[in-house]
Amino acid sequence: MIVYGLFFGEHNFSTALIVDGEIKYATENEKITRIKSAYNLFETSYSSLVAIEEASGIKLEDADLVAIGDATLFHKQDVPDITKERTKLLQDRLKNCKEVKVYTHHEAHAASSYYLAGFPEKTLVVTNDGGSFENVNGSIFMAEDGNLHLFKNLYRVENGSLGNLWCNICPKYGFKGLKDEGKIMGMAANGQFVQELFDNFNRLTEYDNNFGFTNGENTDLINQTFWKMDEDGWFNTQQKRETVAYNLQKSLEYNLTKYFTHLKKSFPQYKKLCLAGGIFANVKANQIVNEDCGFDEIFIAPPMGDEGCALGAALLGARDLGDWEHRPTKDVFFGLEYSNEECDIEAQNWDFEVVGKDTDYNLIAQLLTERNVIAVHKGKLEFGPRALGHRSVMMETTDPTNHVYLNKRFGRNEVMPFAPFIMKEKANEVFHITKSTFAAEFMTLCYSTREEWEDKIPAVIQKSDKTARPQLVTEEKHNFFYNVVKAYDKLTGIPVLLNTSFNGHGEPIIDTPSQAFSHLDKGSIDYLVIGDKIYKKK
Ligand SMILES: [Fe+2]
Repeated sequence: MIVYGLFFGEHNFSTALIVDGEIKYATENEKITRIKSAYNLFETSYSSLVAIEEASGIKLEDADLVAIGDATLFHKQDVPDITKERTKLLQDRLKNCKEVKVYTHHEAHAASSYYLAGFPEKTLVVTNDGGSFENVNGSIFMAEDGNLHLFKNLYRVENGSLGNLWCNICPKYGFKGLKDEGKIMGMAANGQFVQELFDNFNRLTEYDNNFGFTNGENTDLINQTFWKMDEDGWFNTQQKRETVAYNLQKSLEYNLTKYFTHLKKSFPQYKKLCLAGGIFANVKANQIVNEDCGFDEIFIAPPMGDEGCALGAALLGARDLGDWEHRPTKDVFFGLEYSNEECDIEAQNWDFEVVGKDTDYNLIAQLLTERNVIAVHKGKLEFGPRALGHRSVMMETTDPTNHVYLNKRFGRNEVMPFAPFIMKEKANEVFHITKSTFAAEFMTLCYSTREEWEDKIPAVIQKSDKTARPQLVTEEKHNFFYNVVKAYDKLTGIPVLLNTSFNGHGEPIIDTPSQAFSHLDKGSIDYLVIGDKIYKKK
């Protein structure tokens, strides 16, 4: 059976393809068009669809089912001409498809988490975001043995939107909503508690003790409150902006703790929790939910934003066709792939020197100890916002200045500390990791660092609270990363390396070999591991 999943929301367009119960491809438009989704509102999933059709040789019209996760664009009139053209083109093509099924935005979110987690036990599946075309800000589903049932929708008229709050504060920082919320979470680490600010944010959207949040349609209230805060000078200095961020983060953590604790107490037989939606891009809040709310294990959709809705829809479609076996996903390497030969051919366009093979792990480890920045372009591109070892940049974790150094090399302005990757079997030696270790393979939540390691790996630890968001790697699932960090551990006694996504400032994670080589050419990196070779500048 062939199922295509398409996402026609307002941003983060994506396409997924499932064949005979196996996820063959899932990728975002932004990885193809090279324009960040947040700047490319109301386009269509056309670019990612064409890319997957070409890579797989399977046309949309070949599908037994086309599953659409949110069809907002079919109803929007105020969109650019290119969007109208592409929407029309897709609608025409859909007329020639065997079956087309539209799922809701939050069903698609829920599926993107639950069917990748593969928990067989009773599981609560909770979604939360800035709101959908169906006027829903979040949902609660009950799930067991691969069956997913809606328990409650959080409708916009009744429920305040946490996502709306975070999106709307971004311009006050000179940031872009739907993209830079994570920077505010990063800034929060340096702020202080101020009761007045904390109360302000709680007044805007607070847990209502009935599985929802107060103040439906809260945009006006949000804007009025931010206007007053602006008048009072709360955005005037960096220190004040950090303090605003701190209290916004604390308010989120406070309300999510109340929400999930109440859910757990109300449904004690549900011991597992799956999360999806933009709110759960907040790795610090996810740590609190994991550690303080009483669930045995949590999982966050690795594509937790709207990009996950195409895959979520495809998973729902495969399930409805009886062509999906409920089990944990091995990974989220679902994007496009380039063969060693294609990488070699691209290399001929550049004047670089081959210094070794991709399996020369001891050489790579040695180069890392000499403060080199080494990028990786291997295998299928990651699906979702995190680079997990196929389009990543590696560096040592031992020097606290590496954060500034890497930002400079890539022309980036990342606020959050870069993430560590660590052999899964050693993770609990370095961090306090006792549960949700599967979720931690996807770098979706923070953990506290053990005291004896704080000074050894400062480049990947948040200074103020000593947390990190590690990626746990295994030999089976992350072969290259695992062998590199193992060789590095043998050399240094430190089983941890730094991982940041392979992209320049404002650029989506890189896709093609040519984009990878261009970073070696412009000097963002010292070495590039691509295909089966290691390159450096002559
Ligand atoms: Fe969403």
